Amino acid sequence: MSESAGAVSAELGQLTGALASGASGAPNARDAVRALRPSQIREVANAGFGVPDVLPFWFGESDRVTPPFIRDAARRALADGATFYTHNLGIAPLREALGRYVGGLHGATSADHIAVTSAGVNALMLAAQMVVGAGDRVVAVTPLWPNLVEIPKILGASVETESLTYGKDGWTLDLDRLLAALTPATRMLMINSPNNPTGWTMTREQQRTVLEHCRRHGIWIVADEVYERLYYGEHGRVAPSFLDLATRDERVIAVNSFSKAWLMTGWRLGWLVVPTRLMDDLGKLVEYNTSCAPSFVQQAGIVAVEEGETFTRALVVDLHASRDHLVRALQSIDGVDVRAPDGAMYLFFSLPGAKHSLDLCKRLVREAQLGVAPGSAFGDEGEGFVRWCYACDPARLDIGVERLRAFLTANAGA
Ligand SMILES: Cc1ncc(COP(=O)(O)O)c(C=O)c1O
Repeated sequence: MSESAGAVSAELGQLTGALASGASGAPNARDAVRALRPSQIREVANAGFGVPDVLPFWFGESDRVTPPFIRDAARRALADGATFYTHNLGIAPLREALGRYVGGLHGATSADHIAVTSAGVNALMLAAQMVVGAGDRVVAVTPLWPNLVEIPKILGASVETESLTYGKDGWTLDLDRLLAALTPATRMLMINSPNNPTGWTMTREQQRTVLEHCRRHGIWIVADEVYERLYYGEHGRVAPSFLDLATRDERVIAVNSFSKAWLMTGWRLGWLVVPTRLMDDLGKLVEYNTSCAPSFVQQAGIVAVEEGETFTRALVVDLHASRDHLVRALQSIDGVDVRAPDGAMYLFFSLPGAKHSLDLCKRLVREAQLGVAPGSAFGDEGEGFVRWCYACDPARLDIGVERLRAFLTANAGA
């Protein structure tokens, strides 16, 4: 053996010994990452792998493609060479267009408060990275899309959940309990309204009370408002928002997305409304996460925001009709308990056998070719329920309902 080969071999030997003795540990991810919950929705989808003709009501997206005027805008932007990096916070015309859009919905908002992100989930991560670190206490209102609970945990924060309760009026918030959980030691409240999965929508009065409480204790509010336009309640074209009440320079960060109101899930485009004081630091975080959202996608985003109002309003009319259609159809099945919530695009309902909702959903996909999401995917409070996304053609909803009816009849008393 040559001298250098001998040295390499000795080094390898030391390394192997160190690994075996555990001195540098086995090659694992950090504990906080290993402890993250895997997606139960994926688990159900995997159970349906290879099953023909499954109706996929499990994911949170419409069965329709993005409208042509937005796809055309992206095509034009690509043809014009919009293929380069952009400013970390987004291109100026999109930030300005979003400032006008948010301003039209929630009161004056300048482009200086807008940061463009790579969709809502990246906006949530950036907001959490801005505000929380290891050991911080976060409160989240559940049942909830798991990302909002898991993201702060990636950063080493601890998350306490405060559950909505289910009763004759559907899902409701016990405000006093939430306020009691929001102690001065709390760093951040994660709240999603209209809510995925329940469709629960916070009232303006509840928002006012929570905002005042958080102001008193210096608690950050991260408000996930990606479903704000999918709203069927009394306030008109948009759900009540913390942005209606908060100034633009206090501890409120609003998270939003192009995915839902313009059917742009696959484009990965979203935005944040944040205090201007945070912008320089936020720019650094964007740099180290994604550097920027894709240039041609941002160009298409301008067209969505500036020309998409008619489309969004028509979409909401269709979703409203689909919601009512599915509620009526499900109510005709014995043992199903379902209400029509004010927002989002899901029904979150209980049915026989859902006490173990993950098992039930796996059986539904294998035995009835019906894909719905288990309530337990959204927290322990969701056990006993399933989530059905109704953003699709009512005729497909009908086929799904008949499959569910047949499954429950076949398994009655089992
Ligand atoms: C509550 C909530 N927030 C954020 C998102 C993120 O969506 P996207 O990353 O597609 O913008 C979703 C997606 O379903 C969601 O349900």
